[in-house]
Amino acid sequence: MTPTVHQTKDGSSTLYSDTFEQFYHNPNGAASESLHVFFETPGLISTLDKANSLTILEIGFGTGLNFLLLLDILKQKKLNIPVEFWSIEAFPVDRATASGFDFKKHLNHPELNDMLPGIFDGIQPGLNEIQPLKDMDVTLHLFYGRFGDFSPQNLQADFIFHDPFSPEVNEELWTADTFTKLASYSSNQAVLATYCAASKARGAMCASGWKVARSQGALGKREMTVASLSPKMLKNFKRVNEERLAGRYQSGDFD
Ligand SMILES: C[S@@+](CC[C@H](N)C(=O)[O-])C[C@H]1O[C@@H](n2cnc3c(N)ncnc32)[C@H](O)[C@@H]1O
Repeated sequence: MTPTVHQTKDGSSTLYSDTFEQFYHNPNGAASESLHVFFETPGLISTLDKANSLTILEIGFGTGLNFLLLLDILKQKKLNIPVEFWSIEAFPVDRATASGFDFKKHLNHPELNDMLPGIFDGIQPGLNEIQPLKDMDVTLHLFYGRFGDFSPQNLQADFIFHDPFSPEVNEELWTADTFTKLASYSSNQAVLATYCAASKARGAMCASGWKVARSQGALGKREMTVASLSPKMLKNFKRVNEERLAGRYQSGDFD
């Protein structure tokens, strides 16, 4: 069944999936949550000024909100660096649904909102290469398919937006195998961010070699998670006990 569009409390859109029985974002604010979890907490906005290029890998393209927010930030900062935005989506919505998305209130360049229906209209199963803006060096590599079938060559992400549905309903995207695969697509300094703070998810990250830390969650949620292969990228965060969590995950303590 096609997901339905809803408005969240900060005025930005989200979707509700009957299949997963979940909203795509926090109903208190889709754009506010995304900005906090993926742009502010992992330090993406603050590193942009020094960056010569940027590669992002997102798990779950959903509404395309994170891609839109990134374009808006780049435009606002007048930054024209090469940007590769990889995203994976097994169940993309159709053009008509995407026409209902409204993120304008949260964009400095609200006209960007108009590009979304066109992105969803044209995509085909497999890898789609989209250059949405003539005046910016940005490529959207949108993989229409399941994460398990995604096997890019030479992907070295600087930031990972880990944004599946919750572990209870989207279990395959929260396993140690998934985080091992994500590590193989990451640069050594990469920072992975997710809204999720579940011990089992953190245990899966620890069991696959990620250093893991907690941070303040978005919109009243107590915690979220950041992770990196390099401990020095987490120096401003409170780390979990990786050895202990990995051991608990491997012995099935969280099942
Ligand atoms: C929480 S939503 C993503 C929200 C999105 N980042 C946004 O800002 O709108 C999770 C997404 O993961 C997708 N998904 C779920 N399981 C998947 C899988 N195995 N492979 C690829 N995508 C999957 C869903 O279709 C959904 O669009």
